[in-house]
Amino acid sequence: AVERTLSIIKPDAVAKNVIGKIYSRFEKADLKIVAGKMLHLSQEKAEGFYAEHKERPFFGDLVKFMTSGPVVVSVLEGENAVALHRELMGATNPKEAAEGTIRADFAETIDENAVHGSDSPASAAREVAYFFEDSEICPRTR
Ligand code: CMP
Repeated sequence: AVERTLSIIKPDAVAKNVIGKIYSRFEKADLKIVAGKMLHLSQEKAEGFYAEHKERPFFGDLVKFMTSGPVVVSVLEGENAVALHRELMGATNPKEAAEGTIRADFAETIDENAVHGSDSPASAAREVAYFFEDSEICPRTR
């Protein structure tokens, strides 16, 4: 089925100047960018986004990192978009990420792992709505 998923290009990847290289991987995989913007997350916005990790020991460092510089949030659309996007990203820990994946190529550590992607269609719906109004999403008509 055609799905939408949320992508975040994290502060480490923006700082490395590889936004275009990461977008290019989405496009090569036939995912369409149907919304996108650059933001510098506030502490409150980052904490709300990662609320499910609130009790995890890495939560404080995660919020600190995600607010350390600008991010690019995008909505990707395509057949099987949620799982396809996760495949392109590779494992959460770049050291375990398969060769040729975004995290293997652009990230070094589990804390600064270049990208985020929704882990299920249900979280995709929540995460897309967390960053985008319906009117900011532009489905392709050709
Ligand atoms: P992300 O997909 O953005 O979701 C939560 C983030 O927490 C994850 O990517 C990692 O960058 C970070 N993180 C740090 N330590 C861990 C861990 N032990 N398990 C999962 N995520 C972690």
